[in-house]
Amino acid sequence: MIIKEQFKRLVIVAYRLPFKFVRSKDGYKAIQNAGGLVSAILALSENFKKNKNTLINNKIVWSGFGDNMPDAEKIENEHFDIVPVKIPSRLNDQFYGGFSNDLIWPLFHYFSTYSVMKKNYFEAYQEANTLFCNEIIKHIKPGDFIWIHDYQLLLLPEMIRKKIPDATIGFFLHIPFPSYEIFRQLPRPWREVIVKGMLGADLIGFHTHDYTQHFIKSVKRTTGYECKQNIFFTPNKVVKADAFPIGIDYEKFHQAGYDKAVLKEKDKIRKSLGEQKLIFSVDRLDYTKGLLSRLLGFETFLEKNPGWRSRVVFNMVVVPSRDSIEKYKEMKKEIESAVGRINGKYSTLSWRPIVYQYKSLTFNELIALYDCSDVGLITPLRDGMNLVAKEFVACQLENKGALILSEMAGAAAELNEALIINPADNNEIAEAILAALEMSSQEKQTRAERMQNRIASYNVFTWAHDFFNQTYEIKSQQEIMRVKFVNPAITAKLTAAYNEAERRILFLDYDGTLVAFAKYPELAVIDDNTLKIVRKLTSDPKNHIVIISGRGKDFLEKQFSDVPVTLVAEHGYFIRKAGEEWESTISADAQWKETVMPILKEYVDRCNGTFIEEKTGSLAWHYRNADMDFAQLRLNELRDDLSEIIRHKTDFEILEGHKVLEVKSGKYDKGQAAAVLIAMEYYGFILAAGDDKTDEFLFQAIPDFGYTIRVGLSPSFARYNVPDTDSLLTLLQTLMK
Ligand code: UDP
Ligand code: G6P
Repeated sequence: MIIKEQFKRLVIVAYRLPFKFVRSKDGYKAIQNAGGLVSAILALSENFKKNKNTLINNKIVWSGFGDNMPDAEKIENEHFDIVPVKIPSRLNDQFYGGFSNDLIWPLFHYFSTYSVMKKNYFEAYQEANTLFCNEIIKHIKPGDFIWIHDYQLLLLPEMIRKKIPDATIGFFLHIPFPSYEIFRQLPRPWREVIVKGMLGADLIGFHTHDYTQHFIKSVKRTTGYECKQNIFFTPNKVVKADAFPIGIDYEKFHQAGYDKAVLKEKDKIRKSLGEQKLIFSVDRLDYTKGLLSRLLGFETFLEKNPGWRSRVVFNMVVVPSRDSIEKYKEMKKEIESAVGRINGKYSTLSWRPIVYQYKSLTFNELIALYDCSDVGLITPLRDGMNLVAKEFVACQLENKGALILSEMAGAAAELNEALIINPADNNEIAEAILAALEMSSQEKQTRAERMQNRIASYNVFTWAHDFFNQTYEIKSQQEIMRVKFVNPAITAKLTAAYNEAERRILFLDYDGTLVAFAKYPELAVIDDNTLKIVRKLTSDPKNHIVIISGRGKDFLEKQFSDVPVTLVAEHGYFIRKAGEEWESTISADAQWKETVMPILKEYVDRCNGTFIEEKTGSLAWHYRNADMDFAQLRLNELRDDLSEIIRHKTDFEILEGHKVLEVKSGKYDKGQAAAVLIAMEYYGFILAAGDDKTDEFLFQAIPDFGYTIRVGLSPSFARYNVPDTDSLLTLLQTLMK
């Protein structure tokens, strides 16, 4: 595995440490924890140890909840340096048992009725994420790659980013990211804190394309950030979200089947099975795993296929998990009662249909069971990925086992040669069991080989490799953009040029540049502080300050009533110099409005939340308050409708801005207006600041020696960026010092 050189050490941060420490007679014994995440990172660590040329010459650091930890200076084993995070037990109950597992886990797995929304859960979640942050930052060194995992730590990326702005941070979600309709069930402020928390990372990974799309939609709806080709433009950096389906250490699982101890284990299992066929499943205890409906599916199978009774046995292994949480306790009782009922109904003196075990398996037992199974029955109601399915396939040495897999598992996207079922449908499960038991060897072989090839090639190492490389790419992209960000050196250059010039002209756009957007245009009025800054700029006789906007003239006049600025209204249709009258730069009638207004009105009706703003020379259809995806759809249609009319009439044109489509008389823009003003005098210093597509005309009209600044992070003709209106105001104040 080749990993880009600038990452020197891997720091894993996950709620669970890879081992739990159990007190024994001789001190502490470390026992491996269950779960997909631990399995994956352990595999990575083993590979890094074997392959000395990678960044992991340095041991992996793993930071997690330090429950019941030995009292030692340094806790490590052959794989990891452990950084325990101490969380007081009551806080942990609210954070882990509460927000993480009583709220996010059920909600993100579409069990929204199980979700308990308590305010103190969220507070505990914030507090525990802060404890993680405070501990981790003590250990971070330059060159570290911080890889944060899973739903317990959604806020951590941003928390670390605030403390170490240059850190390299990856975040991976091991569970589904649900559709926006589910995500929006969270209270609004929590939603924002969560997505912004995740966006503190440089790269955010999900198991599937669907989860990634759901996340992108939730970010757009929650923050309004733009996203192009999976890249978000947040105020101060670009962040990528993408799908990285987690894999397994294929060779390790496949080869383990030839191990002596495993061969012995298989022998034991085969002897105890005799002529009976084996159906096998192993999962953590969890309502998402579909354990109950699996049992009902097996019961239906027995009911409908009496000929198979006594010839098949279902070994259902349930690994203890979260059994202090109420829902899990209830679930365990229900499962055990269903097992008892079905066994009671069908058992004979010599045969018991279900062998239920509530315990962990050793690695050897697990491998042996996978390979001895005739059917792997994996039927989660929802599962981010499900590694068990992949492990089952990898362990088929003679390809005798058939896999039944739920369509609700992320793994189904890659394992489509499995018998894919709807896990809530007992009949479908029963039919799939029959089909699997009766499947020809040839068919089993063909299906298994296809799946094996796929998971052998995109394995856990390819997964990690892909993730590291994409992080490297996005970091490089940030670096390129960072050059454009106004930093102290650029500020110094600007200030020097400002001070040297005898005459200066500064073009300042209004909305999004001087004043943040509001729900309706009339609400975005200028505040006293901003007005003070503009006034101070005008008080220097060397300065010519121009407010250049798409707004109508009355609105601008009202905002700057007693400030001696030049006003450019309606994208350059009108200009008014300080103390003079308004002049219009073109002579156009707006006859076209009669044709266009009814069309825009139709779109207001067809897209809830949109509205029309009428100005002298234009009509604007605003969609900032509508559902963005739906508005995009309508926007495309509206554009088509208007283009059709433009083909016959040429006295108006379309201009698109920030969540607005504007139809205006003729071909004038902010650039032309600026050019007229610049040509009137010699200016030694020219600055233009704007935030929108319409300001790009302005930027293009500024001579090369001038300074153009785009507010917000977006590709632009401007030479520089500042993150937001506040930063621009600060910059203007610095110039005047
Ligand atoms: N596993 C384990 N102990 C056991 C049985 C299974 O650690 O007794 C492992 C199994 O090999 C797999 C992981 O636990 O790697 C379960 O991952 P999966 O993605 O299937 O489900 P999750 O538990 O993450 O929801
Ligand atoms: C899943 C989650 C992990 C979690 C594991 C075990 O794999 O994605 O984040 O650690 O289950 O659950 P537990 O609650 O015991 O940590």
